[in-house]
Amino acid sequence: MDEHTPVLVEESLAALALEADGYYVDATFGRGGHTARILEALGGKGRVLALDRDAAAIAAGRARFAHEMRLALVHAPFAELASLVPQHGEGRPCRGVLFDLGVSSPQLDDPARGFSFRADGPLDMRMDATRGEPVSAWLAHAGVDEIRQVIATLGEERFARRVAEAIVSARSVAPLTRTSQLSEVVSRAVRTREPGKHPATRTFQALRMFINDELGQLERGLAAAASALAVGGRLAVITFHSLEDRAVKEFMQAQSHVAPELARLPVIPPSAEPRFKLVGRKSRPGDDEIKRNPRARSAMLRVAERVR
Ligand SMILES: C[S@@+](CC[C@H](N)C(=O)[O-])C[C@H]1O[C@@H](n2cnc3c(N)ncnc32)[C@H](O)[C@@H]1O
Repeated sequence: MDEHTPVLVEESLAALALEADGYYVDATFGRGGHTARILEALGGKGRVLALDRDAAAIAAGRARFAHEMRLALVHAPFAELASLVPQHGEGRPCRGVLFDLGVSSPQLDDPARGFSFRADGPLDMRMDATRGEPVSAWLAHAGVDEIRQVIATLGEERFARRVAEAIVSARSVAPLTRTSQLSEVVSRAVRTREPGKHPATRTFQALRMFINDELGQLERGLAAAASALAVGGRLAVITFHSLEDRAVKEFMQAQSHVAPELARLPVIPPSAEPRFKLVGRKSRPGDDEIKRNPRARSAMLRVAERVR
């Protein structure tokens, strides 16, 4: 239950264009699948800073990499990268940052974390259980419109209003404290079944993204990574759904083009030149990888390189 199969590993390593003595950041350590491969490719002077906002991931990493002197493992959200990258780099330029977004298999598979609509557990869904409030607490006080909006925007759920009303009506009878309760309430409210999808998929995704402020973290994490990278350094991001991918695509596009209002000037001021160039097109796992690891099926990797 404590294993995570890393996705798009060869593609991510190629994207980072590793240099043996370079300093790299794994912003989403998980169970260290990508970190392990980066360390393997680095020499004795290479260095990796790995972050995870989940204390269980960091504890597992400390046990697995107890003797690895080239690795700094830090329990922190990646929105805090700006201060952490210089702090752990021993004065070295950062040559690459990798984000492998979303949740890990150990998080999904442990019912006690409350991410799963298939197994019963406390309705929590926080990646960092030391901060913020669990989903159950938020659902106990949020207004029906707030709940509807979260489910509509972050879950892209057509039946968001019905689901929100069903939640509010269920909580007036008994507090929603278990994943199985929420899953049943949603299943009754969502009439149309999408093939191969549990009716609660979209609602659970929305609540997870909301309670962990995933899009806010992504926006701040990308901005911090972009500023922390040295010229020539690579930014590689693996996403798992369209909202994340859209945010990454728009960020990379904005960073790699002159702002439209300045592009019309006869001479582009040097300060307006793009800081990044896009590297290749987005990549997806091949059939073999998806067969070996079905959770890779929606993964997408985008890469950009800092050029000034
Ligand atoms: C898909 S898993 C990464 C798996 C990892 N690449 C591996 O091979 O084991 C995503 C991890 O990122 C962490 N995470 C998600 N959002 C985060 C954030 N904003 N800051 C830090 N860690 C985050 C999660 O806790 C989870 O452990």
